[in-house]
Amino acid sequence: MVQTGAANDESPLSPVVIRVDEVNAMTQGAVRTLIDIDLQTFSEPTFSHYTAAAFLQSGHVYTLTVDSGVIGTCVFMRCWARPGDANLLSMGILPGFRGQGLGQRFLLEVLDHLRERALMGVTLMVADDNRRARKVYADAGFTETGVRYEDPRTNEGFIQLRVQLTEPLLAALPTL
Ligand SMILES: CC(C)(COP(=O)(O)OP(=O)(O)OC[C@H]1O[C@@H](n2cnc3c(N)ncnc32)[C@H](O)[C@@H]1OP(=O)(O)O)[C@@H](O)C(=O)NCCC(=O)NCCS
Repeated sequence: MVQTGAANDESPLSPVVIRVDEVNAMTQGAVRTLIDIDLQTFSEPTFSHYTAAAFLQSGHVYTLTVDSGVIGTCVFMRCWARPGDANLLSMGILPGFRGQGLGQRFLLEVLDHLRERALMGVTLMVADDNRRARKVYADAGFTETGVRYEDPRTNEGFIQLRVQLTEPLLAALPTL
């Protein structure tokens, strides 16, 4: 299941040792992990078993592990409009582990990995009022693209953010 991993305990703010893994196999355990963390993270489910399996097979999934186990996931799909970009579909950290700098460390490590894969950029949608997530994304270099979406059921507003990972002229063909 795990392709790459890295330990990182150098943050002065958080001494927690983390490991970031790229999940490269579609197993029942991986499907369950994606769904479990998603259900504890968002107000409505992002994944069914079918879509979780599809993202594990055709998207790109990273997990964040501490000594108690997997506490976070990050799910990407390839952007159709900009084939050099990845789209961050969902990122979540289990409730008891939030606000300790772990999301920031997780995201930076994942972005480094995508940069090494010559991805040109990452886009995502985030709720307008999700201050914590927006801070994490802004600190990682994400800026607003001007694209907005409003959920007609709740009137909740979402904004699109993007970060440039690799300069276009220097980018090799993406291999994600
Ligand atoms: C969003 C999420 C992944 C961030 O991970 P995290 O580990 O909680 O975040 P971190 O602790 O690394 O960083 C949080 C930052 O936001 C800041 N912050 C927290 N609440 C804030 C608020 N109301 N307004 C502004 N900044 C806030 C913190 O101070 C910290 O910044 P700092 O490091 O400069 O002090 C996590 O909280 C989560 O899973 N939330 C629920 C799911 C979600 O919203 N996912 C993103 C959807 S796009």
